[in-house]
Parts: sequence; structure tokens; C-alpha cells
Amino acid sequence: MTEDDVLIIGSGIAALQFAVQLTDDVNVRILTKEKLRTANSYLAQGGIAAALGKTDHPGKHMIDTLEAGRFHNNQDVVHEVITAAPDLIKNLDRQGDIFDKNQKGEWLLGMEGAHSEKRIVHGGGDATGKNVMENLITRLKQRCNLSVEENCFAYELLLNTEQTRCIGVKAKTSAGTIQKFYGKHIIIATGGCGQLYTYTSNAKTVSGDGIAMAYLAGVEIVDMEFIQFHPTLLYINGETKGLISEAVRGEGAILVTDDGIPIMEGVHPLKDLGPRHVVSQRIYEYLKKGKQVYLDISTIDNFRKRFPSITSICEENGIQISNGKIPVAPGSHFLMGGIKTDLIGRSSIDGLYAIGESSCTGLHGANRLASNSLLEGLFQGEHLAKWINKTCKEPYEIERSPYNFVPKREKLVCLPDTQQIKDLMMERVGIVRDEVNLKKQQAWLNQFRAESIHLDTCSTEETTKVFMLCIAKLITDAALARTESRGGHFRSDYPREEDHQWLRKSIIHHYYQGMEKSNEHIETALAT
Ligand code: SIN
Repeated sequence: MTEDDVLIIGSGIAALQFAVQLTDDVNVRILTKEKLRTANSYLAQGGIAAALGKTDHPGKHMIDTLEAGRFHNNQDVVHEVITAAPDLIKNLDRQGDIFDKNQKGEWLLGMEGAHSEKRIVHGGGDATGKNVMENLITRLKQRCNLSVEENCFAYELLLNTEQTRCIGVKAKTSAGTIQKFYGKHIIIATGGCGQLYTYTSNAKTVSGDGIAMAYLAGVEIVDMEFIQFHPTLLYINGETKGLISEAVRGEGAILVTDDGIPIMEGVHPLKDLGPRHVVSQRIYEYLKKGKQVYLDISTIDNFRKRFPSITSICEENGIQISNGKIPVAPGSHFLMGGIKTDLIGRSSIDGLYAIGESSCTGLHGANRLASNSLLEGLFQGEHLAKWINKTCKEPYEIERSPYNFVPKREKLVCLPDTQQIKDLMMERVGIVRDEVNLKKQQAWLNQFRAESIHLDTCSTEETTKVFMLCIAKLITDAALARTESRGGHFRSDYPREEDHQWLRKSIIHHYYQGMEKSNEHIETALAT
């Protein structure tokens, strides 16, 4: 048994920013499912949005964030994060000259979808995530009082006997043994759930583990119907092979058919740089009719130099940049919902926090504005560290006899194939949804009763599958309950926003341990 001040589950940008900002007297342990660098943040091509341009202002950035989020956002959170963005970027850049600048040392600001100004800073052209993560990893190595456990899969939260406080986590270690880790503050930073879908830009580890684990411990989960599908993933022979950043459209690329006809004309005033759900739905319509869509990049000078990572992804997959055309399809990219938290990261259970994509602060509303996610991770990491640096000094006795949950059933003999879960989610709970398909999916998911499976006896692969089934159910139930379309949630049977019924209303899931029947409670509440 180990005991730390702070236990961090996950190793993306929010986790590492948090860890490096904690004072050295705070004892920190990071548990990560694979390697430190196996995180979505490391793959991020797009940059970080901040009102740094001469004609820009945080107020404009806020309006764009609310507009993309279809006004489902928490406006106070939007105000705090967006106002802090320029200083966050400047402070981070002082740590290592991370972001691209011109010869005069001015920021090279890029354009992305639904932004009204050029305000995206990048590092290494299209390797922003990698640049920031490497900087954070270097600084992390300099701190004292840190242990990193790689290949360590956290799968169950430990609560105190009254079930009022999270006191630790059970994990499977690299040696295959079960170990309990205790801490004063338990932080979930495991990212979203991109791997729930056939087509995704996400790292292979990102399958909703932290959110599922929190849900099963009775923590409130919110806004799960809002999934962002990124319009442009490289698409070859029916498979997606990685992201083609929106920055490519920001530099002038347009979406065209086989015969070169632009597909975004007359669909949205911002055309190819319209909100992601609008562009994704348009591409999806073409693909459904069996027509391939391409990004025409022929007008972009020095493509290789500006987008070195994308050039490599294309060439590794047999696409020549000199042909001027990249085949694309939409895929799941970002979860706007997650563990319900305040801006400090506090969840509905004491001692448990969530930061990064696994959390839902309300910043993104129903659809995230491009390049606002690394920003959120940096903000939350710093904010929570400041808070813990203060409160961690207060004495606190950790209970070592956790609450024993009602014994669960033994593991199911027959869990579905992972690919089947992804394919059915893509088909029935994907870019376009309707009642018939959502109900079919709900019935299919209910048969597995994933939430009552005893996880101690499951392998890591089986536990991941159980978590995927739990998350799939949360998304499906919420998508069925929300009888309107808004941002990342589109229902063909309710194609409009229904403000009178749904504006700023959130769907909250709450699982009650130990109740035999109907142990999930869904409520709708005004988003705060
Ligand atoms: C992109 O580069 O298109 C992704 C950026 C983001 O999702 O914020």
C-alpha cells in the first residue's frame, strides 16, 4: 500500500501542467495506463487559442467560444479561462520558447474553424502538443517527491466508509498484480472517450476509463451526448489514419468532391471553416452516398514546411502531398461532457478532482471551439495546483479501511468484441442520431449490465471493454433524452435547437451503488 499527497491518474497536458506547478513539498504519484507520452495531448497538431493579435480581444474569443458551444456553456467559466489565456501562453513560452514566431519575434497566429480572428499559437508547425508535453516532461523530471508508475491501470476508486470522500484507487500494475494507492487528493486526468468510435483521432488508450470509474463510484457525470466529430481525418480504404488539422483549412484548403466541386458553398457563412459539427455532417452526407471527399491543398505554399507531421502521416499512408488532394472523413475527436466539476476541478465527491477532457466545467458547451482544449488543460492544471498548494498543508487523516461496495456479479462470460462496440456506436450514436437507432443501441447495451461486473477478476482488456460499455450507455441514454439538436449532438428526428425546452439544460447521470433495480438516476438540471 502506498500513500501520497496527490495521486494523478493520466499523463496528458492537464496532468503534467498540474504536477509541475505543485510545490516540491507536495508528494506526487502519477499512474498512467501505458507510457507517459501515450496521451492525446502528445498528438495534438492544432495549437492553443488566445487573444494575442493586435486586433483581437478576449471578448471576441469569448463570443466565438459561446457561439461554437451553442450557448450551452457556463459563461463565468468561459470568462475566466479565456481572459487568462494570453498570460498562460506568454508564461509557458518563457519556459522554453515553445511557440512559433516570425523573425521579429512576433507570434505566428493561425486561423481555425469558427474563430473570428487569427489567434492560434502553434509549436513546430503542427506539433504543438508534442512541443508543450516535452517541455512539461523536462520540468517534471526536475521536481522532487515524484513517482511515475507506467503501465499501471487504475480501475476502481476507493471511498471512505461513509462514501463521502475518495481516498484512493485500485490499480493493476505492470506485474499484473492488484495494488491499492491512497492519497489526500485523487485527480482523474484520463482524457475523453474517442476510442468508443470506429473513426477517431484519439490515442489508443483513450476509452473513457476515468469517467467510467468515477461514474461507478457514484460521481456525477454530465453532458455525455455532446461528442465532437472532427471533419478531417485521413481516410484510406475505409479506415482513418490520423488527424489532418483544421489549420490546413485555416491556410486555405477547401473540401471538394472527386470532380473538384466545393462542398461547403451555401452551407454555412464560414464555409470550410464553419463549426465542426456543420462541416462533419456535410462530409458525412457525401460519404453515406458513397462519394469520397477530399481536402484540396493545392493553394497552400510550402505545405511540407508548414505541416511536417501531417506530411509524414500522409506519406506513410501512400498519399503524395504533391498531388494536392487528401482523402478525408470525420471521426470522433473530443468529448465536451465528462465528470461534472467546478473550475478548480472538484467533483461531486470530496477528495476527487477531474481535469482536462475527462472533466466537464462547462467551458465548451455543446461543441468545443478549435484549440480551446489544450488551453483548458493548461488553465485547470495551474488552477488546481494553486489550490492544492494551499490546502495540502492542512492536516488530514486518510482512512485506510475503504467502504466495501455491495458484492458485484462475477465477470460476464461473453463481452462483445471491441470492434463491434465501436462500429455500433458509429452507426447508431454517431454524427447523425435518431430515436430508432438510439433505442436499438440502448437495448443492445443493457443486456451486458456492464456496471455490475466485478472488475478484480477481469484482465485490463476486459476492464477497458466494460468501461467502454458503461460510457457507451451514458452517451446513448443522454442522446435519447435530449430531444433536440445542439452542437455535437445532432438528431435527424429533432433537427433544430429547442431553446424553450433545452437551452442551458444539462443531463446529469448519477449511479447509486448497491440498489438492485434502476440504479441509475438521470436528471436534467440548469447548467450552472
Ligand atoms: C486540429 O488541429 O484541427 C485540432 C485542434 C483542436 O481540436 O483543437
